[in-house]
Parts: sequence; structure tokens; C-alpha cells
Amino acid sequence: MFGREGAVIMKETGLMEIKVNPATPESRKVKPVDETKLGFGKFFSDHMFTMTYSSDRGWGNAEIGLYRPLCLQPTAMCLHYGQEIFEGMKAYRGKGGEIYLFRPQDNIRRMNVSAERLCMPPVDPDVFMEALIKLVLLEEDWIPRGHGTSLYIRPTMIATEAALGVHPANEYLFFIIVGPVGAYYPEGFSPTKIYVSEEYVRSVRGGTGFAKAGGNYAASLYASRIAMEMGYTQVLWLDAIERKYAEEVGTSNIFFLIGDELVTPPLEGTILPGVTRDSVIKMARHWGTKVSERAVSMDEIVRTAQTGTLKEVFASGTAAVVSPVGQFYYRGKEYLVNGGKTGAFTEKLYEEILGIQYGEKEDPFGWRMKISD
Ligand SMILES: Cc1ncc(COP(=O)(O)O)c(C=O)c1O
Repeated sequence: MFGREGAVIMKETGLMEIKVNPATPESRKVKPVDETKLGFGKFFSDHMFTMTYSSDRGWGNAEIGLYRPLCLQPTAMCLHYGQEIFEGMKAYRGKGGEIYLFRPQDNIRRMNVSAERLCMPPVDPDVFMEALIKLVLLEEDWIPRGHGTSLYIRPTMIATEAALGVHPANEYLFFIIVGPVGAYYPEGFSPTKIYVSEEYVRSVRGGTGFAKAGGNYAASLYASRIAMEMGYTQVLWLDAIERKYAEEVGTSNIFFLIGDELVTPPLEGTILPGVTRDSVIKMARHWGTKVSERAVSMDEIVRTAQTGTLKEVFASGTAAVVSPVGQFYYRGKEYLVNGGKTGAFTEKLYEEILGIQYGEKEDPFGWRMKISD
């Protein structure tokens, strides 16, 4: 595989050294002052990490420099054939000012799984981790302090080779950008209303649903727009074959508390293996809750919602940790979950996972990585 060779070449030629070209004081941006208005994806810091790949020399030119526009040929292959993958993770500031990452190894691993599926070269996990830590520490002043705020981290890889023709590109750019984001629930939980999409699907077995590839998100927009026009926050995606089994919600994984059993769809190639999903499963099992990774059909969801055994439904993801679902729409009818309110189980998961991320609770799982005091 050309990609694997790439990583090896980099090690042998010692190109792993990351050059740092810090921004001059004049070129630094003014940081947002009001942490309650950060929102998501609006602000980015002064620097970015970049590294380039070519199939004959592997990865090289690792550098942290100014956050800047990219220069691409109109024929850059990512623009035509969608070879683009990314990750999403956060850096958190503890009460004493210390900085933590949460399970970054899992995002790095997932990025390389995505790379393999899209015939893109893997990034050496050690180089990735070093770049990530160096960049976050350089941008330390950009990490907000307010409760629930964080520094969002967006590693991305694109095919940059200037050529038309459908084949894996021979040149790539890997970059990492970071920016402060606000608390997801500044005014407490607000349960979402979801729309079950039967007509449109996001992923099918054998496709790219398990990869974090830009194309998956483009494919999801149409159904999301329909849901929003109908007054719903998110789409609940069903399997593409039978249009019967729940898969994901919006850009998050989905959980159902049915009686005393916590159920989530299995990882069979169509859904993203969420880092938060795995944390929820491990946390719930740690509490002694029965957790099943099994198919859950709309028949079962509707039936248990009607009989009251469907106690809670929530989405999981890096952005919100967990997000309660209060209502869903399926085949012309609306169903309430837990009276439209956030359930105690969802709330407890939120408090526990958030507490670990911010260094406020014990971390029996070893998820937290402290990168500065
Ligand atoms: C499609 C999809 N599913 C699930 C998730 C949740 O993954 P994680 O918990 O790693 O953020 C995300 C978010 O990255 C996503 O985009």
C-alpha cells in the first residue's frame, strides 16, 4: 500500500521534525471576549499544522505556521472526486487551568481507518499526536475557560494532486485547525425533536458510512433540510436495505433505554464508531447497566414508546456529549419520549463524562490525557 510506505519513508528520512513558525504579534487575531457567544465553528486560532504527502516521498514538510487560506489548483482531486476525510475532537481546560484531551488516540485511529477506506495515505499516529499536542499548547490562550466551553480540533486530509481522472491521488495535504467553541447547553438541556427518514438514507453496508468522509455529510443534507422545514432538529437515519432499523441521528450515534436495557445499533459498517458512543457503553456497563449493541427496529421503538417501556432516547457525540430526544415523528405520527423531558440516565451520563473531560471526576477508564499543568 502506497500509504503505509509513506509513513515508513517519513520515519527513515527523519522528516518527522515539526517546524514552528510562530505568528508575529501584529498578525495575531483579536480573540473573542464573550465566551457565551462563541457558538460552534465560527472562530479559529492563529496557527495551523500542515504536512504534505506525495507517493514517491511519503509525508513531509510538517510545520505549524499561520492559519491561512489554502492554495489549490482548480483540478485538485478533492474538489472533483471527494477524497476528503476529517476528525472532530476537543481540548478542555480544567478548573486549575490545566489542559486535557479526551481519548485522542481513538480519533487518530479512526482517521486512519477513514484514510484506508478512501485510498488515502495513513498518518503516523506518533506524528499526528505530536502535532496535535504542539498546536494545542501553542494556542493555549485560545482555550476558553467557561464551564462547558472548549477548543475544537479539526484534523483534515484532502487530495491535492492537480489532475482529472478517477483514481487515488498521488498528493495530499493533512492539516489541523483549532478554534474555541461555546458550551453546548448554556441554558440547560433542551430535548430535540427528531424526524425518522424513510425515503432518504445516509449509508449502506459496503459504503463509507463508518468513515468520517466529507461525502457522507453532503449526502445527508437533503433529508436534514426536509426535517428542518417540518420543524424537527435532526434526522433519525434508518438502514438502507429494509428501512426499518435505527442507525444514527443527525451526526451522532443513538441510544434507547428500553426498560432497564440500554440499546444502541451495532457497528456493521454503516455507522460512525463514535468515541462518545464507546464511552457511553463503557460507562453504562461500569454502572452495571445491561448494554446491548443490537438492531433496534422502528416497530420496537413505536411499540415501547406506546407502552411506556421506552424510557429515554439520546444521541451521543463530541459536540454535545449526549443530547436528549424528547419527541420523534414517524409515518405521520408524533411520539413523546419521557414526556418530552430529559431523563435521569441521560443527565447522569452527561455529568459523568463531562466531569472526566474537565478533570473534575475520577477517570477509572484512563480516557483523559493531561497535556499541561
Ligand atoms: C455521523 C456521525 N456519527 C456519530 C458521531 C459521533 O462521534 P464522536 O462521538 O466520535 O464525536 C459523529 C461525530 O463525529 C458523526 O459525524
